[in-house]
Amino acid sequence: PKITFIDAAGTSRDVDAKPGTSIMEAAVQNMIPGIDADCGGACACATCHVYVKDEWLAKLKDKDDMEDSMLDFADDVEPNSRLCCQILMSDELDGIVVSTPESQ
Ligand code: FES
Repeated sequence: PKITFIDAAGTSRDVDAKPGTSIMEAAVQNMIPGIDADCGGACACATCHVYVKDEWLAKLKDKDDMEDSMLDFADDVEPNSRLCCQILMSDELDGIVVSTPESQ
């Protein structure tokens, strides 16, 4: 399934991810700028913060408590903020669009 990343400057980059791969892993594998992922996906760093476009947000599983509390450490958190190591790709999410924040 395809993921589109849009950076803070508005540049968009498409990536093809294997199902079951997290959006964070797909970003790192494809050297997408704007995702640091310092903790490697353990939901312990908040440097994989992204904004999920509203139409996709509804298709995601809700944040669990761990993601929710870790998001407090991210900057400029919005209602559509997520930690993308916690979003696993599936065919249902083919075409998902996420924006990366100015800084992590
Ligand atoms: Fe650290 Fe997602 S990679 S919280």
